[in-house]
Amino acid sequence: MLSVKEPLDLDLRGELQSLARGKVFFDVPMSQHTTFGVGGPADAWVEPENAAELAAILAFCAQKGVARYVVGQGTNLLVKDGGIRGVVLRLRSDVFRAVKVEGTRVTAGAGLSNTKFLEALKSAELSGMEFICGIPGGVGGGVMMNAGAHGGCFADKLAEISVMDADGKIRVIPRNVLQFEYRSLRNMGDAIVLSATFDLQKDARDRIQARAAAMLETRNATQPKGSNPGCVFKNPAGQSAGKIIDTLGLKGLRVGGACVSTVHGNFIMNDRTASSVQVLELIEKVRAEVLARTGIHLETEVKILGD
Ligand code: EPU
Repeated sequence: MLSVKEPLDLDLRGELQSLARGKVFFDVPMSQHTTFGVGGPADAWVEPENAAELAAILAFCAQKGVARYVVGQGTNLLVKDGGIRGVVLRLRSDVFRAVKVEGTRVTAGAGLSNTKFLEALKSAELSGMEFICGIPGGVGGGVMMNAGAHGGCFADKLAEISVMDADGKIRVIPRNVLQFEYRSLRNMGDAIVLSATFDLQKDARDRIQARAAAMLETRNATQPKGSNPGCVFKNPAGQSAGKIIDTLGLKGLRVGGACVSTVHGNFIMNDRTASSVQVLELIEKVRAEVLARTGIHLETEVKILGD
């Protein structure tokens, strides 16, 4: 049995390669798969074709003691410079990006991007998810993070999710059992989200488009563009982390190539030269300064992975 932190050896790489049809890559720089643009290599990057392949890979990881992580579009992810020991799974095939509409109920695959999801909802003339307009990322990450903006979040219209457990079994979990909180979903254990089903309302396409466009306009006016993973810190109850950081004069604070955005205080920008260490150092500097001057402990919203 391997320790979960040991790199994948050649035998294991060969076995893994045989489990997924062609979509297995080794020593993949995570900087290419995160909007932050930092992070060392993952031992293996696997895009399973379907649920059966995903189950086979999960069984392989369990049997061999190989660590495995599921990532979405890497929009809320900060990977350390040492990279990731084990297997990184990305649900990107057509099966995991399918959309099924039945009346006002819609099921979207975990691998579907928010942009494509909103396009499908406009075509189906279904309203209720306009807030995802401009939120980078996709459905699986949106559920796991309970992503949100403009007063809406993924939990609001969710009816159920379909998940795969570590033993490959697929089950449906109804909304009332899921413990959603602000920017998190608890009690998921090892389960991997395969798809999410939402109950929405009928509305005209142009009205949905108008609402989404207005939200995007606000976002573009108040948040920076470029390589960043959205807000770095969760908002403390009743307050905006960005406003606190701004009020303390921390916009523009820099460590190497990482800099607190001058547009919105809760964003950290990478000028394309930053390392993960620099980003992490900047996060800690901001956190320490806010704690020292306000007594507020900021929690990170971005997920931090790797060695
Ligand atoms: N503000 C400042 N300075 C700043 C940033 C904000 O004064 O640098 C002020 C704004 O002027 C406004 C208030 O603070 O009066 C709140 O700002 P904003 O509307 O930008 O909201 P936020 O609480 O900072 C949250 C979410 C965003 C989401 C926006 C819009 C979190 C951590 N952030 O930001 O979500 O897009 O509302 O709905 O919950 C994300 O989760 O990654 C994210 C970016």
